[in-house]
Amino acid sequence: MSINRRQWLQQSLFASASILLAGSPVAVGCASEKPRSLREKDNLILLNWNENPYGPSESARKAINDAMKFMNRYPDEAIEELKDKLAAKNDLSRENFLLTAGSTEVLSLLGQHVGLQKGEILTPFPTFPTALRFGERAGASIRKVNLDANDRVDLDALNDAITSKTTLVFICNPNNPTGTELPTEDLKRFCRNVPSNVLICVDEAYMEYSVAGVEGSMLSLINELPNLVVCRTFSKAYGLAGLRMGYAVSQQKNIDALRNRHLGFELSTGWPPVVAASASLDDPDFLDMCIAKNEEGKSLLYEAYDKWGVRYNRSSTNFVYSRDDRFESNLLDKLRNRGILITKWPTMTDHIRVSIGKPDQIKKYIEVAEEYLV
Ligand SMILES: Cc1ncc(COP(=O)(O)O)c(C=O)c1O
Repeated sequence: MSINRRQWLQQSLFASASILLAGSPVAVGCASEKPRSLREKDNLILLNWNENPYGPSESARKAINDAMKFMNRYPDEAIEELKDKLAAKNDLSRENFLLTAGSTEVLSLLGQHVGLQKGEILTPFPTFPTALRFGERAGASIRKVNLDANDRVDLDALNDAITSKTTLVFICNPNNPTGTELPTEDLKRFCRNVPSNVLICVDEAYMEYSVAGVEGSMLSLINELPNLVVCRTFSKAYGLAGLRMGYAVSQQKNIDALRNRHLGFELSTGWPPVVAASASLDDPDFLDMCIAKNEEGKSLLYEAYDKWGVRYNRSSTNFVYSRDDRFESNLLDKLRNRGILITKWPTMTDHIRVSIGKPDQIKKYIEVAEEYLV
């Protein structure tokens, strides 16, 4: 379908108006975890939003510089080339991909897609809330199934909870905020069992850090399952959070439906994120370094928590989720006063989530946290 510029403007204005009418912008986390200014950000140890402290890679920086000469042009061909590269890596075709400004955009589109049909999203709880928040604001109802005793997604309970009202099952694997990962074969079996008229979204934002690795991705089921949407991001292991580059992978009819909920064509990404993502895919050494350093940071944290007797989950991501009665309500403020930001989700009282910074930053966190916990 082709649309002219005026139709496109009308559609996008309508889309943004409906989001604005549905409520205030999506709030992420709680107030004390955000830097108050760019200057402050520079001086803080940021262990709050699961960013990669090593990115972007040198090759991504170079690609951005080299693309400067194109910056007055729309990046259509570069977008198609990046899709081809992703497709070749995963035995898929470019029609299976929608590139977006971070995977947040895919999650918001999916949430709205369900909400506008007044559908139901079935989700483990707690999990990453973006799709649920956008869905709810657009009219979806949300049904939550608690994680199991080990903070893992309870696939049996989730399967039992699917009814004729379920429109979308959302699964974040590995799960944010608990850092737990599902065995690949269990998740595959679950996906195959979901009725084909129910959409499944698997959010794989942290897959590169997982024990299974990207080989455990549900992308291998895309050709088989017409109801599966996988979303991925370059924000985490590739270290491009500030560039905003994510994507959805699914069969073409779903990608077309999402694109039509979007702008009608793909231009929410620009040259810098596209060329940086493309260069990052060709730089496995950088990715390996980030994953190895992340393991090093996690080990430091595990060691400290073991020493203090804090309960934590061994993490398949770049953050560690832990629980302890000593995590009182103002621990975040105390840490912030010492220049360290971590996260505590407002609905939960006895846990914290610490993103894996550089080893020196984790050591500093351990030194300061010890004063309050031990
Ligand atoms: C599980 C999960 N999915 C998606 C995102 C969104 O990331 P982005 O929009 O930067 O791709 C995040 C960010 O923290 C996340 O934790």
